[in-house]
Amino acid sequence: MNNFIFQCSTKMIFGKGQEHVVGEELKRQGASNVLFVYGGHSIRRTGLYDKVVRSLKDAGIAFTELPGVVPNPRVSLVRKAIEICREKKVDFLLAVGGGSVIDTCKAASYGVFYQGDIWDLISHKVELQGDMQHLPVGDILTLPAAGSEESDSCMISDEELKIKSGFGAPGMRPVFSIMDPELTYTLPVYQTGCGCIDIMSHVMERYFSHTEDTEMEDRMAEAILKTVIDNFEIVLKEPENYGARSEIMLCGTWAQNDMIGSGKEQDWFNHGLEHEISGLYDIAHGAGLAITFPHWMEFCAKDKQCQPKLLQYAERVWGLSPDYLHPEKTISKAAGNLRTAALKAGLPTTLSAANIGTGKFEYIADRMTDGGKKIAGNFHRFTKEDILVLLEAMK
Ligand code: NZQ
Ligand code: ZN
Repeated sequence: MNNFIFQCSTKMIFGKGQEHVVGEELKRQGASNVLFVYGGHSIRRTGLYDKVVRSLKDAGIAFTELPGVVPNPRVSLVRKAIEICREKKVDFLLAVGGGSVIDTCKAASYGVFYQGDIWDLISHKVELQGDMQHLPVGDILTLPAAGSEESDSCMISDEELKIKSGFGAPGMRPVFSIMDPELTYTLPVYQTGCGCIDIMSHVMERYFSHTEDTEMEDRMAEAILKTVIDNFEIVLKEPENYGARSEIMLCGTWAQNDMIGSGKEQDWFNHGLEHEISGLYDIAHGAGLAITFPHWMEFCAKDKQCQPKLLQYAERVWGLSPDYLHPEKTISKAAGNLRTAALKAGLPTTLSAANIGTGKFEYIADRMTDGGKKIAGNFHRFTKEDILVLLEAMK
């Protein structure tokens, strides 16, 4: 295990009806003038919007609304949020929604105090040195997936450049997250599937590592993966099963707050590749991962160094008996099981199923390897040529 620092101080307020305490919690955090950010119509349809407004009013919190966050959240809306925060002297950002809404708030919370354009930070044109002044962010989570409710990073798209990029800082974790599993009953099957694949991917990006002596984290990772797999099956049949929705919600947070990744060399190849794809083609993040991860596993199965961990995953997570003479066969079965799970929710598992052509393969491989000068990923170290082979397999 490698040296590490882990600090996650997000206050998790979990359970039925907890959204009602949002006003009081904001008051406790010292907020008095809030920017209330949300996406499209889902929170109005579910009645959550009215509950939030009532709670804010009851607590005497002044607020300005900013709706309109879309999946693969746009930098243009982040700029708008920054403008409002400055103009109205906002002292707290409240995100009500999924990862895209929370990420918009996180980026804006840093942008308020940055003198240049926020895309400088998002695109790493300007690197943050440690942390910088920012406004606090809190959230009411409606979609377990991105894990942004406790993570220290955010992902934002520039719709004109067709690039998705992200930045992080130690202080970026939300100060509180209200998590009521009942709020996720209304998620369509497709969105539930995207969420579960994303949660599993966050675990796997950390699990597939060559760092030694990480048995405890491996076992926790396997527990999260198995829990998501089992409860995903339940919510497909019973969308309003509180127990199953709770399990998935909790898994989403533990998968991404880095508790199971500390002290390990992590991979993040699939996220790097998926962010290129969703930056270009604006597909749901979980759908992109449903395409990349099983193909990535099959590619890595040929790498002798990667085989032992992939076999461990196949055996412990999917209950497969490892074929040590033909490891690729067992690993391919495990990849197939992940694909089957994604297909049950109607997710694509090939690029063509997502209406994505082959025209940008060279561009993607160049971006991921800086024109062939760098390696991408840590578990299997991908050259530009490897990436082109992998993309061909994903067609
Ligand atoms: O806009 P509304 O109407 O609210 O509808 C949303 C949206 O269309 C809908 N939705 C959310 N909660 C719902 C609901 N529909 C019905 N009932 C509910 N309870 O779901 C749609 C997708 O929402 P979005 O926030 O985009 O999804 P998700 O939470 O999966 O977030 C994805 C974003 O997070 C980024 C991704 O790249 C992507 O941009 N990520 C952020 C990370 C982080 N900050 O740590 C890490 C992740 O790896 C990921 O990259
Ligand atoms: Zn993700």
